Amino acid sequence: MTGFQPPVFIPETAIAERVDALARRISADHAGVDDLLLIGVLRGAFIFLGDLARRLTVPCSVDFVALSSYDRGATGSEGVRVVMDVRVEIRGRHVVLVEDIVDSGDTLAFLIHTLEVRRPASLRTCVLARKRGPEGRLARLDYVGFDIPDRWVVGYGLDYDNKFRTLPYIGVVHAPDDD
Ligand code: PRP
Repeated sequence: MTGFQPPVFIPETAIAERVDALARRISADHAGVDDLLLIGVLRGAFIFLGDLARRLTVPCSVDFVALSSYDRGATGSEGVRVVMDVRVEIRGRHVVLVEDIVDSGDTLAFLIHTLEVRRPASLRTCVLARKRGPEGRLARLDYVGFDIPDRWVVGYGLDYDNKFRTLPYIGVVHAPDDD
């Protein structure tokens, strides 16, 4: 794929408008919260979280979790484990979990369970893009940037084989076995 430039699927301006709108909703829903905790899921959420956090009008802190690589051979949460946990105490905090994309929903479902047992005051979820899939498997989502078809999207944090994360737009690539 050297030199390949993925065609634009969601342009930079549309992303900026959606992130603005999400930030307004999150800020309104957390009015009066004195230190909202945003937890980003590495690596894909790093750009989305950075832009979202800077648009919030409520005070916030940021932290991150890293999970095991997506194991497409596994089912449910079997393929997921925490390899880097947040460094802060979550109990009693208002938390928004920030993800780049939800596909099967397994990653988010695993994280919701992992964080809820720590008794946050509230836990909401925010994803940039949700793939249209079987609803039954989708994790609980509070804020969704875009509903997208089942295509391999890249850019704005999203990767293909760890490439294209820094594209300013969301583009689309075909996986080799699509052809
Ligand atoms: C991707 C993405 C989500 C997860 C979504 O992570 O960032 O975390 O897969 O898939 P699911 O809804 O089917 O669970 P990936 O393992 O590719 O890591 P990355 O964020 O480092 O790209």
